[in-house]
Amino acid sequence: RCQRVVLGIETSCDDTAAAVVDESGTIRGQALLSQTQVHLKTGGIVPTVAQQLHKENIHSVVNEAVLSSGIPLQEVSAIATTVMPGLALSLGVGLTYSLNLVKSYNKPFIPIHHMEAHALTIRLLQQVEFPFLVLLISGGHCLLSVANGVSDFLLLGQSLDESPGEALDKVARRLSLSTHADCSSVSGGQAIEYLAPFGDKEFIKSSAPMAQHKDCNFSFAGLRNHYYYCIQQLEDQEGIQKGALLSCAADVAASFQHTVAHHLVKRTQRAILFCKQERLLPSSKASLVVSGGVASNEYIRKALQTLTDSMDMSLLCPPPELCTDNGIMIAWNGIERLRIGAGVLENVDHMRYEPR
Ligand code: KG4
Ligand code: ZN
Repeated sequence: RCQRVVLGIETSCDDTAAAVVDESGTIRGQALLSQTQVHLKTGGIVPTVAQQLHKENIHSVVNEAVLSSGIPLQEVSAIATTVMPGLALSLGVGLTYSLNLVKSYNKPFIPIHHMEAHALTIRLLQQVEFPFLVLLISGGHCLLSVANGVSDFLLLGQSLDESPGEALDKVARRLSLSTHADCSSVSGGQAIEYLAPFGDKEFIKSSAPMAQHKDCNFSFAGLRNHYYYCIQQLEDQEGIQKGALLSCAADVAASFQHTVAHHLVKRTQRAILFCKQERLLPSSKASLVVSGGVASNEYIRKALQTLTDSMDMSLLCPPPELCTDNGIMIAWNGIERLRIGAGVLENVDHMRYEPR
């Protein structure tokens, strides 16, 4: 029998992405168009702008993915598309486009949960058995859960306010890092990672948030506010205007990256201890999978590596281009669902379909 292949489409935030992946996990074709450059200019994502850009680009992105795969759409087994969570206006573009394809080519439709796709990406790259612990850290999310199966997750904790990516982006913006020549076209998190090695991580000291909370939740807003306050004081000291580049920007970046890493490690450590106590994971060499845009940060990965080494666990991390949003993870999630026959919708009424 021929290998099944899935076309995956992702438009949940600010990347328009598509890919064709087969059952063996081979990426047959892919395309991605990032809107980061545009959104850096407005200091954040304006949903209507993101929607418009998705509309302008989705056709060529999907076309490129399909053409580069060499597999005509007629031969695709199913179309998988992110339907939640994300920006409603952005999600709508991918959904409408996909449902039109589903109708034109009479294909099964597989609605995809964006976070499930991030969590399963590792299984496209290597054999990882369920259950495993997963930490998803991106611009939109921050959660810890036990993956028991393709669509079976036990949520252990999440951020009570903003995500680490959001906090990194906000501090980067407050530091005006995008005016720094080497950081003009990268995300806030990447700008902080780029500058951090030039700075002193002990420059701003702060205790880890939620140390008294006996759960696995996170909080980044208080920390980020504390940094806003410190930056303001430094600007006053240096006698510079808000928005001008601080002479100690690298020190602030290093300190913030360190603090974010420390908080992530502390909460993940709690989750691991809980899993051990409740026997939720294999007793030896259980896996911690880390993904999402922030997981591409080397400093944060190293901090988590030290943690897993000390807990007899393996740290598994997709490469950076598969940690950030992409179409491959959506197509792969479609393959995973085809394999177990769950959530594959036949004969979707494209006029009536509503994500649940
Ligand atoms: O997964 P992603 O591409 O989109 C969401 O689903 O949110 O994550 C984007 C986030 C942004 O906040 C960005 O600043 C952050 O991931 N990020 C990083 C790095 N690369 C991207 N944060 C820290 N270090 C990085 N190298
Ligand atoms: Zn994402």
